[in-house]
Parts: sequence; C-alpha cells; structure tokens
Amino acid sequence: MSEQTKSWQVQGYLETRDGHLTINGADAVQLTETYGTPLYVFSEKRIADNIRNLRRAVEAAHPRIKLCYASKANSNMAILKTVLEAGGDLEVNSGGELHKAQVAGFRPEQIIFNGVSKTDDEIAAAIEYGILAINIDSLYELDQVARVARNVGKRANVAIRIVPEIVTRSHIALQTGLLSSKFGLSPAQIEAAFTHALEMSDAINLAGAHIHVGSQTPDAQPYALAFGEMWKILVDLYKKYNHRLRHINIGGGLPIDYLPTTAMADQIGERERAMLSAQLDPETVLRAALAEAVKVDEANLLADLTIVMEPGRRIIGDTGLILTRVCNIKTRPETGDTWLLTDAGYSLALSMGMYKWYYHLISASRAAEAHEPPFKVAGPLCDSGDVYFDLEKGSRLPNYRLLPATTAVGDVLALLNTGAYALDQSSQYNGRPRPAVVLIKASGEATLARLRETYEDLYAYDVW
Ligand SMILES: Cc1ncc(COP(=O)(O)O)c(C=O)c1O
Repeated sequence: MSEQTKSWQVQGYLETRDGHLTINGADAVQLTETYGTPLYVFSEKRIADNIRNLRRAVEAAHPRIKLCYASKANSNMAILKTVLEAGGDLEVNSGGELHKAQVAGFRPEQIIFNGVSKTDDEIAAAIEYGILAINIDSLYELDQVARVARNVGKRANVAIRIVPEIVTRSHIALQTGLLSSKFGLSPAQIEAAFTHALEMSDAINLAGAHIHVGSQTPDAQPYALAFGEMWKILVDLYKKYNHRLRHINIGGGLPIDYLPTTAMADQIGERERAMLSAQLDPETVLRAALAEAVKVDEANLLADLTIVMEPGRRIIGDTGLILTRVCNIKTRPETGDTWLLTDAGYSLALSMGMYKWYYHLISASRAAEAHEPPFKVAGPLCDSGDVYFDLEKGSRLPNYRLLPATTAVGDVLALLNTGAYALDQSSQYNGRPRPAVVLIKASGEATLARLRETYEDLYAYDVW
C-alpha cells in the first residue's frame, strides 16, 4: 500500500460501524461505557495472527525456529495465555517475568532469560525450572551462574550474549548492539567466555549465543552484520573446541508501522519517519542474516541449529490501543489553538514522554468523520511534558493532531498501536488508578483481562 493511501483501518480488526471505531467488531464507544476510560483494549485474534504470520515468514528462511515472545513488551496474564495458546515461546527479563511465565503454563524449554543484573535467586529459579537458556551478560555473571548451579545441584543451560557494535536507525535509547550500551559481552571477551564456560561443564551447558541489536530496527542490515560478526566468532571457536551450539538467538527488534497516514507523517522529521513507518519483512531479515553466516560456515554449523527470535513489539504492538475520553476543551485566543485535554497521559504509555513516541490518534466516537482541523492534545498529568506533541519543538512529534471539527468533551479518542511497552510501564502517577484491560476474544466477545484499579489500590502497599 502506498504511503499516500495508508489508512489506520485494518480489515477485520480496526473498522468503522455506525460512525464508531470497532475492534474485531466490538464498538469502542460501547466498551468505554461498560469498562470506563482510560481503557487498554487488545485483540486476541490479532496476537495469534501476528505469531502465525511471523512464524510462517521466518520458517520459510530456516526450518527450526523458536519464537520467544519478549514478555517485557506486555506480560499481562491473559496476553501471555494468548501467546502460549498461539504456539509462542517466551523471553523473560526478571524473576517476576519468569514466575509469571511458569504460572501462565510455559514449559521450561520454552523460556529464555535475559538481563544485565540477575540475582542469585532469579538464576536459581531459572536453573531449577530448567529453562532453555540463561543469556549470560558478563564474565562475572558466567561465574555467578556456575556457582548458583552448583548450589542448586543442576547444570545451567546458558547462551553468551555478544554485543557486536552495530548501529541501527532506531532511537538511541532503543539500540542495544553498541559497545556504549550496557548489554552483553564485547567481541574481545567472547573467547574467554566460551573457554571458561566449557571448562565449567560440571555446572554449565553452553547451549547458545545471543545478539539483540535493539528495538524498532527499520533495516535488515544490522541483523545481517551482527549475525555475520557472531558467526565468525562461532566458527573460530568451533575450530578450537569442536563444540556445537544448539541454538543461535537473533534477538528481537522487528519494527511495526506507527504512521498510518501522511498528513501527520509530513510533520515528523525524516529520520523518525523512516523509523516509525518501517515495514521490515522478517523473512528478508532472517535470509540476510543467514546469508552472512553461510559465507563463513565451513563447518556447516547451521545444520541442526535452532534459530531463536525474541520479538516483542512485532507480536503485540499493533494488537492494542488506548481509549481515552476528552475531559476538557479550551482555546488560546493568542495562538488560535484549540486544546483537548484527555484522561490518558504518559503514565499510560511512558514512551510518549520518554522517547516522544508517535501513536496515531483518531476519534473513536466520530471515526467516520473527516479528521482535518488541527488540535493541541494533552493528557491529564500535572506536568507540562504530558502533551501529544514535542514540547521542545523537536521533530519527533507533530505539533498538532488532526481530529473531526465536531470533537467535543465526552468524545472517545483512540491512541493506536499502543500494545507494546505501555501497559507494563504504566504507573499510578498523580493518584490515577491504572485502567482496566479488555481482551477481545477470537469469538468477538469482550472480556476483562485486568480490573480497573481503585482509589484504595493507590495506597494498598503503603505502610503508615
Ligand atoms: C534482549 C531483548 N530481546 C528482545 C527484546 C524485544 O524487542 P522488540 O520488542 O523490539 O522486539 C528486547 C527489548 O528491547 C530485548 O532487550
């Protein structure tokens, strides 16, 4: 679809009926009447479709794939259950996420554990459960895992996380393949890590290697470069130790397209636009990466090897949205601006404030009307930065949002593609109970996936 005609509508998912936005056929305005605003809404069908489509694409490039959904992107239990039922495996990043994975029913061999700062207790829990791999983040951590494994009395399956110094065109805070980032071991340390891991074979089962170049990566090239770099190291180590790994983990980072229309996109800087509107085919990514490996794969290490992927955003990002109500309207005669004040601020999607992330805004109440006049839109928080534009006049966000001219107090608006890294990062800032979460089941039925918090929840853990 050309940029000019790209619409926010997605057939069978986001559509318009009787003037209202519908989500898998459920009327968004009715949902807010039942569950209130603000409201997170997710589509079970779209999650399952995303997993199925991704699997189909990458299995065309390599027959043995493990899709470990990055649960940090959204670890609501109903979402985890949906991922499990759709055949997804799981990546966790803390003892808490590991615990949730176990409760949700993920089996040990379905779980990968990442993290730069794991505690002994977290590592012990992972070893006891026998997960597929703890991804080792430093030479120190390798010894730590071996020590804990000996205490537990069970070998730990590990993979070594390599940071290959690869730049991507994503937001700097979302790039994790740089030596200046806090993650993983640098190429100069890999040989020592492999040697040491093999020496400690009583406690360590060296099962894999891991790279992750960052999130919302718009191009295949960084994956290919990182994979190629990793492969050179692996071939050298194979020659030296004759040790075959069971899996290679290419991380997450597949982007989604956040920019459905050009009217807004024109106001966003070119670099951000390229990143936010990326449409990267996963099969192309994997083929490009594997092509680099094949160039140096004299020992045919790829044979029998499983490729692990850790997609978060690609699976959940475009399956969820936030419904928010217009609570106040005001004009500024001096600037000619009309302001709409909603009940959804950056406390519900932290990346709005932190990265000035663009989420497309439409009217759910008047979805069929032309979205033309420009409005200044802002959230409810007592913080000047809680606005839907770039207060610092940078080019990350457009200055205005286009909405129907008739937009009024009480209307429901929808922030689209907020499925990833929003719900899990939400807070009660400013004494605002966290919203309810609704999951539209594949049957079309709307079900509650998380209760709306109450005022009592605001101090439930305070001790005074
Ligand atoms: C190690 C690791 N794997 C996977 C992911 C998921 O990334 P994304 O949601 O961009 O696919 C992340 C998030 O940044 C990560 O740090």
